[in-house]
Amino acid sequence: MSSTVAKQAELYSGKAKTVFTTDDDGLLILHFRNDTSAFDGEKLDQLDRKGKVNNQFNAFIMGKLEEAGISTHFERLLSEDESLVRRLDMIPVECVVRNIATGSMCKRLGVEDGIDLNPPTFEFFLKNDAMHDPMINEYHIETFGWATREEVAEMKEITFKVNEILSKLFADASLLLIDFKLEFGRHADGLLLGDEFTPDGCRLWDADTRERMDKDRFRRGLGGVVEAYEEVARRLGVDLVTAA
Ligand code: TMP
Ligand code: ASP
Repeated sequence: MSSTVAKQAELYSGKAKTVFTTDDDGLLILHFRNDTSAFDGEKLDQLDRKGKVNNQFNAFIMGKLEEAGISTHFERLLSEDESLVRRLDMIPVECVVRNIATGSMCKRLGVEDGIDLNPPTFEFFLKNDAMHDPMINEYHIETFGWATREEVAEMKEITFKVNEILSKLFADASLLLIDFKLEFGRHADGLLLGDEFTPDGCRLWDADTRERMDKDRFRRGLGGVVEAYEEVARRLGVDLVTAA
């Protein structure tokens, strides 16, 4: 792999990141923007520093996961708000593990908010904003060809392993990993963890006060969104560079 890559065309722009091709066919650049969305794009805002914080937070977490034996698409940081990743054939399914009940599960099942889930539970969602990311099961995934049975098994196994690794990492920083979402993609090397791991796609509560330190602050209009992300990063020891 060449040590320098040249950014080429915009490939795709999502709600919070833009993906660019490079002069290397197998590598893409992720640009983490300040755009923040919730409720499938219904609530939108721009939050100062969020792109930089999330880019560097994601690099830190992907590094920790690689160290613990999880294969990811992450290559390296390119700048404060850009990272180099391997190009994947993305599976359009979101893998969610929950350690404590909150969010959509409480609305859907009527369970009490904040109760421990033992064992942690798992849900699949279809990545489709227009359909509001409906919950799906393993049979849907196989029947509609979104992934094979083997890929489904592997996604579940890796997601539970990530839960073990990160629950411990966050616990050591006095944070509870409540739930999170992962996305996977196919690569010649096998199934790799793709997309991102940031406070945009997980829930983190202060272990003592249970204060919300994640995107629920934005969803619920609590304010202090990026400040909470920065506090999480500080507790983990992420060396944030967020100069203008
Ligand atoms: P939920 O309670 O809204 O189903 O979300 C569960 C977790 O997954 C929460 O940490 C947020 C994350 N998530 C996303 O990041 N994007 C999504 O599209 C969905 C459905 C969940
Ligand atoms: N990420 C989704 C959106 O931006 C869902 C959410 O986080 O609420 O709309």
